[in-house]
Amino acid sequence: MRIGLLGFGTVGKGVYELTSARKDMQVVTVLCRRDLTLPDATVTHSFDDILNDDTIDTVVEAIGGLHPAFEYVHAAILAGKNIVTANKALVATYYDDLLPLAEKMGVMFRCTASVGGGIGWLSELERVRRIETVTRVGGIMNGTCNYILDSMTRLGLTYQEALTQAQELGYAEADPTTDVDGIDTWHKLIVSANIAFGVSLDISRIPAAGIRNIKAEDVENFKDHGYVCKLVSTGIHQGGRFSAYVQPTLFGSSEPEYIVPTNYNLITLVGNTSGRQSFFGQGAGRYPTAYNVVQDCADLLRGQGFYCPYGAKVPVDNSSPLCYYVRGGSWPEDKIADRWGNAIVSAPVSVEFAHHWLLENPDAFIAALPTGR
Ligand code: HSE
Repeated sequence: MRIGLLGFGTVGKGVYELTSARKDMQVVTVLCRRDLTLPDATVTHSFDDILNDDTIDTVVEAIGGLHPAFEYVHAAILAGKNIVTANKALVATYYDDLLPLAEKMGVMFRCTASVGGGIGWLSELERVRRIETVTRVGGIMNGTCNYILDSMTRLGLTYQEALTQAQELGYAEADPTTDVDGIDTWHKLIVSANIAFGVSLDISRIPAAGIRNIKAEDVENFKDHGYVCKLVSTGIHQGGRFSAYVQPTLFGSSEPEYIVPTNYNLITLVGNTSGRQSFFGQGAGRYPTAYNVVQDCADLLRGQGFYCPYGAKVPVDNSSPLCYYVRGGSWPEDKIADRWGNAIVSAPVSVEFAHHWLLENPDAFIAALPTGR
């Protein structure tokens, strides 16, 4: 395998290092903005040097972001090159453009490192799908948010202190609003649910609520009632209906999510025969992420392309009811079941209602109560 590597940042450099001694795959050209000299590869500022090199069969995209990553990957597919990417925003946003095109062009496409970093989550979903129907996916998919929530809960840090630490430790995205507003988790949910259920979800109907408005008083309220708060994604396939959303959620001490520390992820699937399987590990960082990029390259060598056939576009139905902790904003009096300090606990309302309400009350904080999952 002769690889054209796009980007030489955290992930790209890791991929170069992990492949340098291998005989079965070799990074031959690196696209990089900086002037750089590498012992085993040519460095170029021009993507065309990779696109027009017929000896390069695989493009590893490690530049991140949507543009020019999309244009490069699109052009590489049209040129018949296989793709490996760690870019969840790219795959989630352009699922309907890139996957059918890859199928049409007969090229292989993998993105295991895009969800869960070094956890073999998407590759395991592929194996699970061979045997059974996946009815639920989701969990703690963002290390930055888990770090913030865990530090507020266990160490009593303020939100801002915990976010600054997460940034200093290199967990956060370049723009941390992507993490704290739940967008990073949203991307990871879309990729996971599409693969798990073999469909293309209508992403315009998948809401995301983040953690930017959480305060110490919320964390104290949760502790007083025996809960911790985690940012989690949920994707459900039941009776031909699909629901999907991202939101802060409370967990009691009997649930594994309760003890997930620092920047770790805990991602779960429920299969109709195997039941619950959860995957725990570091969801970010150079070597965990580069490890799964190289695993994808090894899978391409065995002829394994995308995890499932591109599936039909399906609507998202978030009408199922949940109870919410709500602080701030003006929640309707007739939908209040309890009061916790300055906050209320709602009567059951649909996920759709709660997220719509939050859009109109952007300074409020909401978290879903446990449902007896
Ligand atoms: N910012 C992400 C996180 C990095 O905190 O999990 C990995 O996608």
